This record gives sequence, structure tokens and C-alpha cells, in this order.
Amino acid sequence: MKKNLLITGGAGFIGSHVVRLFVNKYPDYHIVNLDKLTYAGNLNNLTDIEKASNYEFVKADIVDGDAMVQLFQKYQFEKVIHLAAESHVDRSIANPIEFVITNVVGTCNLLNAARHIWKDNSEGKLFYHVSTDEVYGSLGEEGFFTESTPYDPHSPYSASKASSDHFVRAYHDTYKLPVVISNCSNNYGSFQFPEKLIPLAINNIKNNRPIPVYGKGENVRDWLWVDDHARAIDVILHKGKIGETYNIGGFNEWKNIDLIHVLCKVMDEKLGRTPGTSASLITFVTDRAGHDLRYAIDATKLNTELGWQPSLQFEEGIAKTVDWYLANEAWLNNVTSGDYKKYYDNQYAAR
Ligand code: NAD
Ligand code: DAU
Repeated sequence: MKKNLLITGGAGFIGSHVVRLFVNKYPDYHIVNLDKLTYAGNLNNLTDIEKASNYEFVKADIVDGDAMVQLFQKYQFEKVIHLAAESHVDRSIANPIEFVITNVVGTCNLLNAARHIWKDNSEGKLFYHVSTDEVYGSLGEEGFFTESTPYDPHSPYSASKASSDHFVRAYHDTYKLPVVISNCSNNYGSFQFPEKLIPLAINNIKNNRPIPVYGKGENVRDWLWVDDHARAIDVILHKGKIGETYNIGGFNEWKNIDLIHVLCKVMDEKLGRTPGTSASLITFVTDRAGHDLRYAIDATKLNTELGWQPSLQFEEGIAKTVDWYLANEAWLNNVTSGDYKKYYDNQYAAR
């Protein structure tokens, strides 16, 4: 009998990389990808593994508590990797309640279903909650977030993720649910929805549209290659200690404006444009409300205790990312048709 592993949000950006890694690496797991297929979920992210014998897709909503209990009863999952969420900060500013419902209520529904199914025997079981560094708030110019940094979320998105992390820990402390949490920095790579900075900028440069940079572009993010995040999740799922938290990051900080300049240079080279052509599209726009200045993760614990480290230098990762978006025009055109235009106009017209 194969062990049933549930991955929620597996049709999204990070989830699809996690699903691919697990389907290819673990033929002895039966991998169930549960996803509601919101605007961010796309089964085209998984065409290479969709016919694998150890893979199954289930379209469902984590907000539906009864459906979650039934699903856990049916599959008797051994392990859960929970990624499904509303994930974009700007959308959370426009519509916070949706983030509370999906990220908080949805996570609690999964915790409840796991608790119900594992109550008599939790040996070998694990609920792995995938979270973000944004729960720690914002840093000044110095210092790093460690696993013991107090929570201080500022956006509705990060507040909803912080709340879901608290519920995960509460289920561990109250019901002894076997849980683990990781908090990761900004991911980049293939299949990222072009509402996020890097794919949005690539898409705009490609189409000679302005690149919107919030404020003065001085905010700092720590960027990690998405497959390195997927590898970290694999390591933590199999070697992490129950009840622990692990920070995941790239030790790779960039000011937004510097990152955009690197991207513009790479795009000029790849598109055969005169140097400076793409950079001329940079447009400073009204800042994001409550914009956190700097995130920087200290991932020492994950490195020293579980042996994980990032594999890719940023310049190489950015070049590979640009290559992927340019080679996958149909994917990009597909996700930017329809509702994307409405979202983009609402988001950027007023800035
Ligand atoms: P994403 O928006 O690309 O994908 C989210 C997925 O969840 C989509 O496939 C969507 O259809 C699904 N989903 C949304 N609501 C659902 C619901 N109610 N029921 C079932 N499925 C639902 O997000 P992402 O960037 O891949 O992030 C995945 C997870 O990783 C999130 O929990 C996010 O908070 C966390 N995270 C993201 C980053 C990052 O840089 N993107 C960094 C750290 C942590
Ligand atoms: O840190 C981890 C988080 O990283 C994840 O938890 C989130 O799910 C993910 O969306 C990401 O959040 P950010 O807000 O950091 O990512 P985003 O790509 O939206 O923005 C990156 C930076 O770029 C941020 O400082 C805001 C800025 N920005 C973003 C957009 C979309 C711009 O200047 N212009 C833009 O158009």
C-alpha cells in the first residue's frame, strides 16, 4: 500500500514545484494535489507529471470543512504539506476578508480534519504548514529574522498567515497534533503568476510597458530559487522535528530597484535590445500601503540541523527565469488574458 500524501495548493506557483519534486522522487507515495483552482491555480503548471501513476488531482476548497473531513477519511493521509492560500499582498489590501477566510478558516479546517483522523494514532503522521517570513514584520537596515523573532505582521496577508501559524501551533500544544512549520522568503522561478514583481516586470518589459516600482524602490527582499524551497520542504518533511519551526531563505538580499536593473540588463541581452532600452521603462509609482522595508532570513538552523542550503546563484536563477518566461509565451498569454487585465487596471491605474 502506497502512503497517501496530501499537498494543498499544488496547482499554484510553489505548490506545482513541490508536487513535481515529490511525484518524480517518491514513486512509493500516492500524491494527492488538492486545489480549488483560483486565478492563481493552473493545471498547465503540471502537464509533465499529470499522468504519473502516483499522482492524483482533486478539485476542492479548503474552506469547505465537511469536504476536508471526508477527504481525510477517504485517503487516510500519512502526511500533509499545506500550501493553499491567497498569497498576494496587494490583493489582501484590496480584499482582506478573502484572506481571512482562505488562510485562517481554510487552514483550521485542514487541522480539524487531520486531528479527527489521527486522534487514535498519530505515529508517523505530520501536518506541514508552509508559511512566510512576512509574519515577522519588517527589519531596519541591520539584522535577520530567526525562528524566535516575535511575530509582527503588517499586511492583511501577513496577518492571516501569522494567524494560521498560531492555529497550527495551538493544535500541536492542545491536541498534540504532529506539526512542523517553515517560514520562507520571496521565491522566484518558473510558473509564478505575473502579479508578483519578477514575472510582472518580465511580462511588461517584453511588451514594452512601464515597470511599476513602488515608492523609491528601496525596499529589500531576500530571493530564493523556487526549486530550492521545494527541496527544503522535502528535507523538513522527512528530517524535521515535530513541533519545530524552520526558516528558509536565500541569503540573497536585493533592493527592488537594483533587482529591476539586473532584470532589465538580462532582458536587453535576451531580446537583442540596445542596452538601457528596458531600464527606460522603469516608472516609480505610489507606494504600497504599509510596505515592509526589509525582509532577511537567517536560515542557519535549517543548514546546521538538516543540512539544507540554496543551490543557485541569483544571476543564474534570474537568467533561467527570463529564459523560461520567454520560451513559454503561451503559458504567459493564457494567464494574462481575461481577468488579469481587469486586476492589472484596478491595481495600477490609480498609482
Ligand atoms: P499561489 O498564489 O501561486 O498559489 C496558491 C494556490 O492555492 C493556487 O493553486 C490556488 O488555486 C490554491 N488555493 C487558493 N485558495 C484555495 C482554497 N480555498 N482551496 C484550495 N486551494 C486554494 O501561491 P504561492 O506563491 O505558490 O504560495 C504558496 C504558499 O507558500 C502560500 O501558503 C504562501 O503563503 C507561501 N509562501 C509563498 C512565498 C512566495 O514567495 N510566493 C514565500 C513564502 C511562503
Ligand atoms: O516574503 C515572502 C512573500 O513574498 C510571500 O509570502 C508572498 O506570498 C509573496 O507574494 C511575496 O510577497 P512580496 O510582497 O514581497 O512580493 P511581491 O512580488 O508582491 O513584491 C516584491 C517587492 O516588490 C515588494 O517590495 C513590493 C515591490 N513591488 C511589487 C509589485 C507587484 C513593486 O515595486 N512593484 C510591483 O508592481
